[in-house]
Amino acid sequence: MTEPIKTIGVLTSGGDAPGMNAAIRAVVRTAISKGLRVMGVRKGYNGLLSGDIYEMHSKDVSDIIQRGGTMLYTARCPEFTKEEGQLRGAQMCKVFGIEGLVVIGGDGSFKGAEKLANLGINTIGIPGTIDLDVACTDYTIGFDTAVNTAMDAINKIRDTSTSHERCSVIEVMGRNAGYIALWSAITSGAEETLIPEKENLAEEELIRTIVQNRHKGKRHNLIIVAEGVGRSAELAQKIEEVTGIETRATILGHLQRGGSPTALDRMHASMMGALAVELLKEGKSNRVIAHQNGKYVDYDINEALQMQKTIDDQMYKVCKMLSL
Ligand code: ADP
Ligand code: F6P
Repeated sequence: MTEPIKTIGVLTSGGDAPGMNAAIRAVVRTAISKGLRVMGVRKGYNGLLSGDIYEMHSKDVSDIIQRGGTMLYTARCPEFTKEEGQLRGAQMCKVFGIEGLVVIGGDGSFKGAEKLANLGINTIGIPGTIDLDVACTDYTIGFDTAVNTAMDAINKIRDTSTSHERCSVIEVMGRNAGYIALWSAITSGAEETLIPEKENLAEEELIRTIVQNRHKGKRHNLIIVAEGVGRSAELAQKIEEVTGIETRATILGHLQRGGSPTALDRMHASMMGALAVELLKEGKSNRVIAHQNGKYVDYDINEALQMQKTIDDQMYKVCKMLSL
């Protein structure tokens, strides 16, 4: 029988997301309450390679549940995608006594966790990304806050668009994923949504819709573009040239990644953080936590990474229908 784990580590990796702090807090406090030592690894896999690692106590995670960002910092670490980096990472875990590691991030970060698991470090992934683009789970920490931030910004743009009778092209985050775009379009009543997963309206058709909607009495037009589709400034210019309607492009950008997490993000982060430690305590490894059909479950990381996520067709249809 293998010895029970005594020391775990926690890191955040990839793009930050509101709620990561709540997840770190849950990991640290659950671990301490179960008699484990916890080591915080700063700056994702970069900190693991450089040994930027320190012991965390309950008080270290006081006053962070309400804060955006990640107190452990985050980074992208190209070196860790190579075997040599992964071997060094596993060695560094051994040097610091880390037998189990909680990795909070997206699919890329889970690939790193899988490599460490193969090298004998027990790993558990927690889905943390504003993009919602982790296939095994219905929810990723940060999404709700990001959508609310985008919706709030779009509401404000709507006010000035109406006053000036303008068209607004608003680009929201999502390099490969249209979830923020779709959700913020439905919840802010946008007219058209362009996302990377679907064949979007051709430019001419989009412009025709804008013109027709003006004839129906609309005083503004709101077009939401996912970052993965891009070219929002060029689209705005084209709309203005063809229609004569003053058009502005706004790229919401990184403001969607910050801010105090919503209750939903804090709740999922707290539940997932606690579950991650319980799984490590049970001796599990190479698992990722997911929220599916209202329940917290866990998957083998490899299996999770093979899954495909598709845009909810019903949601997409409703988005189109309501934008008439
Ligand atoms: P996310 O975790 O949000 O998907 P990234 O794709 O940027 O973000 O990945 C975060 C980090 O995870 C990378 O910088 C790298 O250190 C690590 N990573 C990504 N892909 C791999 C891989 N194939 N093998 C090992 N580590 C990886
Ligand atoms: O965290 C996900 C995400 O916000 C994507 O939507 C976006 O494309 C990317 O990160 C931008 O990351 P960065 O500017 O940090 O490289």
